[in-house]
Amino acid sequence: MTTLPRRYHITTFGCQMNKADSERMAGILEDMGFAWSEDPNDADLILYNTCTIRDNAEQKVYSYLGRQAHRKRLQPNLTLVVAGCVAQQEGEALLRRVPELDLVMGPQHANRLRDLLEQVFAGSQVAAVEPVHIMEDITKPRRDSNVTAWVNVIYGCNERCTYCVVPNVRGVEQSRTPEAIRAEMEELGRQGYKEVTLLGQNIDAYGRDLPGATAEGRHQHTLTDLLHYVQDVPGIERLRFATSHPRYFTERLIRACSELPKVCEHFHIPFQSGDNDILKAMSRGYTHEKYRRIIDTIRQYMPDASITADAIVGFPGETEAQFEKTLKLVEDIGFDLVNTAAYSPRPGTPAALWENQLSEEVKADRLQRLNHLVSIKAGERSERYLGRIEEVLVEEQNTKDPSQLMGRTSGNRLTFFPGNIAELKGQLVKVKITEFRAFSLTGELDLGN
Ligand code: SAH
Ligand code: SF4
Ligand code: F3S
Repeated sequence: MTTLPRRYHITTFGCQMNKADSERMAGILEDMGFAWSEDPNDADLILYNTCTIRDNAEQKVYSYLGRQAHRKRLQPNLTLVVAGCVAQQEGEALLRRVPELDLVMGPQHANRLRDLLEQVFAGSQVAAVEPVHIMEDITKPRRDSNVTAWVNVIYGCNERCTYCVVPNVRGVEQSRTPEAIRAEMEELGRQGYKEVTLLGQNIDAYGRDLPGATAEGRHQHTLTDLLHYVQDVPGIERLRFATSHPRYFTERLIRACSELPKVCEHFHIPFQSGDNDILKAMSRGYTHEKYRRIIDTIRQYMPDASITADAIVGFPGETEAQFEKTLKLVEDIGFDLVNTAAYSPRPGTPAALWENQLSEEVKADRLQRLNHLVSIKAGERSERYLGRIEEVLVEEQNTKDPSQLMGRTSGNRLTFFPGNIAELKGQLVKVKITEFRAFSLTGELDLGN
């Protein structure tokens, strides 16, 4: 009989989906009797929830793993788990590369952690990477915040962007039912949560796979229908959603966002490139003109909405002139934030095999130029808040300055202001903005009303 380990530590890499999966896995571990250990070196079970979107994300995982594998040789009772997207990509090969591992499990298996660990404790080394239907999880997630929460609405992605590993590692689209989503939100409302972000890699695909789709491909459960269905959950005061895909984005969705008071004035719509030939090579399925029309329509309905996006520089074959079209789009739109990245060839993706790869120098130079423009434009966008009174949801103390609180505006700008966390945590307060920076604001509580 092995004695059950008692303490666990989870390190999470990657996107919000991984963070949401980690919270569910932590909930399962606590349900099994494990307690959180802040220091991984004191833990009996270490779980890495990994990301492979770019090569540097993947390499980071191997360096962490190397250290823990070494520790395991000294402490054989340590249980080592690799979950998430690297686990899915590498599968059994990861067990061969790091034989100290006990369990390798893809993202679709997150809710099965208990079963899988039971096999490990019975003496097996386990790899769970086959595609499965994702079960509803019956345990409660252990969430990092007690003010804001993520709620998955659709897992996986059916797109085939030529640079992207996500469909390989997250599998096909699987929507949760509107009832399951609403039930989770009602529970969050009862527990005192104030803000929910609905999550999907391509959230506009929500519902396509649920019963009720018609032969013409129309379906009754769209993201817009879902927003209408969950917008009145008691206690939840703010609703967000991400990530939107320009190919499927509808005016009906924009209208719903402008009409439903709890839906925040923020759209995250990656454009990836401002050049039509590059967009085509990426298989994105839209043009920059279409993207601009979407933004124009948003601004007709909601002139002040925040717009954020993702972009890739140095895609195979990208010329200087094509890159400049990305700069032009950023210049013209005036984004509140753009997450930028240099193209990284990923195993199992079409673009990785093309011969027209660019040098690291060219990619780094373009990335730096784009980032420079992004922060100038973000600063211009931030300036509009100066002197205004904004509604801010208080999340926590500012870790760098405990006299300050931290929250976000409806448009998702980080906002700092003096206040008492014990008094204000989880409240929507009015803050008068007195200073702005590219990506954050400072203000003071407005006690005028
Ligand atoms: N589903 C979302 C984004 C998923 S991945 C969408 O369709 O936009 C998050 C971001 O990582 C992407 O928007 C893209 O900008 C970036 N990314 C994905 N694959 C990449 C790669 N191979 N190299 C560099 N950046 C990449
Ligand atoms: Fe990747 Fe494209 Fe799917 Fe986004 S839509 S996750 S970029 S394949
Ligand atoms: Fe990374 Fe997987 Fe998310 S590859 S970005 S953790 S879907």
